[in-house]
Amino acid sequence: MKTTDLVKTATKFIELHTDQSYQESKIEAEEIFMHVLGMSKPKMYSNSSISMTEDEEKQISYILNKRKNDKPLSYILKNHLFYKHNFYVDEGVLIPRSETESIIDQILVKGDELYKENNRCSFLDAGCGSGCVGITIAIERPKWNVVLSDISMEAIIISKKNSQLLNQNNIKLVCGDWLKPFRANSFDFIFSNPPYISISDHRVDKSVLHNEPSSAIFSGIDGLDDIKEIIKSSKKILSDRGMLFMENGINQTNKISHLLESNEFTDISIHLDYNNHNRFTSSRKK
Ligand SMILES: C[S@@+](CC[C@H](N)C(=O)[O-])C[C@H]1O[C@@H](n2cnc3c(N)ncnc32)[C@H](O)[C@@H]1O
Repeated sequence: MKTTDLVKTATKFIELHTDQSYQESKIEAEEIFMHVLGMSKPKMYSNSSISMTEDEEKQISYILNKRKNDKPLSYILKNHLFYKHNFYVDEGVLIPRSETESIIDQILVKGDELYKENNRCSFLDAGCGSGCVGITIAIERPKWNVVLSDISMEAIIISKKNSQLLNQNNIKLVCGDWLKPFRANSFDFIFSNPPYISISDHRVDKSVLHNEPSSAIFSGIDGLDDIKEIIKSSKKILSDRGMLFMENGINQTNKISHLLESNEFTDISIHLDYNNHNRFTSSRKK
């Protein structure tokens, strides 16, 4: 069958059975074929027709049928591309988001400044989930000391698996409640993408609600319970002039800036995501 026809049929199936647009469905359909056939997109389209084995056909229809129940494709394929690398993901961890990916370069810039000042950068990814941020940082900056932590043992196991898949054996993994496992002055840089959605926010996508861990998403009435805890305890755990860099909901940056000020953080900056939303704050311990 012609490659374009195969992709078109799968695209229409996904569009019909999910809330996705035709364009989004096409991206997924291509990802499914690339995954099953083990081919890059250019290679796939360079063949005007594809002959699939019976097993490959079965795999494609298995994936499409799972997708019919709105299970996210990344959980079905047990894979998600983040920044430059493929990460193993399953229902035990949040699927990495493109918003988070959008800040990696800025984290590297800020961390490089710290490295220049102190000739070291000890970096914590607090609430690591799949490990996508911390492991990416460890790959990009092999001289930094990178620690990943999470309260969920499942997340720690998945982060370990990803660190092994990506050959990053110099990463330390810690299971515990935010910064409680760490001593004073342990880190020069703390990054966190904590849960930040209000428990009363009814706009959360059905597929997210039904499939992703709620402990990775919700944080009290105003969505700020975890952020407040991280700010308060970072004061102790960061080294002098150390940096706290957090992801947040789009309407939370003003409140967070005030919280940072009242906890004696300085150099407070707001950073945008790909969609130009106020999505991150960075600040320094005085
Ligand atoms: C929004 S997810 C972020 C996951 C990952 N960093 C990412 O960007 O894809 C938040 C993570 O915080 C973890 N978490 C929630 N409460 C925590 C706590 N009290 N201490 C440590 N981690 C916590 C969750 O298990 C989850 O993995």
